[in-house]
Amino acid sequence: MSETEEPGDEPRHKDRRPRDPDLWIHGSIKKHRHTDALHFRPDNDFFRLADPIVRSQRTLLGYDRLYVFWQAVRNVSDVPGSAAEIGSYRGGSAYFIAGAFVRRTGGEVPMHVFDTFEGHPQEAIGERDRFQEAGQFSATSYEDVRAYLSPFPSIRIHKGPVSASLAHLEEAAYRLVHIDTDLYEPTIDCLEYFGRRLSPGGVVVLDDYSSTKCPGVPQAAFEYLERANGFQVWDMRSGQLMLVKR
Ligand SMILES: C[S@@+](CC[C@H](N)C(=O)[O-])C[C@H]1O[C@@H](n2cnc3c(N)ncnc32)[C@H](O)[C@@H]1O
Repeated sequence: MSETEEPGDEPRHKDRRPRDPDLWIHGSIKKHRHTDALHFRPDNDFFRLADPIVRSQRTLLGYDRLYVFWQAVRNVSDVPGSAAEIGSYRGGSAYFIAGAFVRRTGGEVPMHVFDTFEGHPQEAIGERDRFQEAGQFSATSYEDVRAYLSPFPSIRIHKGPVSASLAHLEEAAYRLVHIDTDLYEPTIDCLEYFGRRLSPGGVVVLDDYSSTKCPGVPQAAFEYLERANGFQVWDMRSGQLMLVKR
């Protein structure tokens, strides 16, 4: 309220609250497309990495979500541990995370990438995943994603249901984990597995936390956070949930 307004007056200025949060965040990111490197803004380096990935439709994620990784990578640059992505589909978000580590920290970090590469497995879809279908996201293949991610020799790709892959994974600490399966069961399995192995200062980015099409994802997050301590919890306007290990 301005100094001359009385309580109860209609505000004279334009209401600047966002009508559409998605447009708001996309718009504010695009506005900075032509700026030179500035801290805490998506600079040209960000767009040089993101543009070809988005244009080639290698990812379903928009610039707003990629920009969350861009910031996360910078924030975990001194945190020990590997990176992981669960739910890679055509490999775009994994490529962005691996590329962001190279650009922002000067080198690759070991990274595990998990997917069935045949779409959602029937057995992972439960009653909480009523809008998801078996075989959804099958327009990809292990061979294609392996070739696409070949510029990053530190990436290991695991084909199959993630819960089975995790049972054979060697012990490691993690600094950045992206969970993007859209489903309840693999989400809660991965929160349990990686949450326990996250280094202090490490980050889990959970995609589709506020998507109405993926009700199993927030349910898994609520259940996990009820019993897990030691996280800062950030509800991002991009639709992602960030868990930062204290
Ligand atoms: C929304 S897509 C991922 C999108 C991707 N991150 C991108 O950048 O476009 C979800 C992926 O999760 C995978 N997925 C679902 N359940 C899985 C499970 N139990 N184990 C491994 N992958 C799974 C699907 O095969 C699908 O490729």
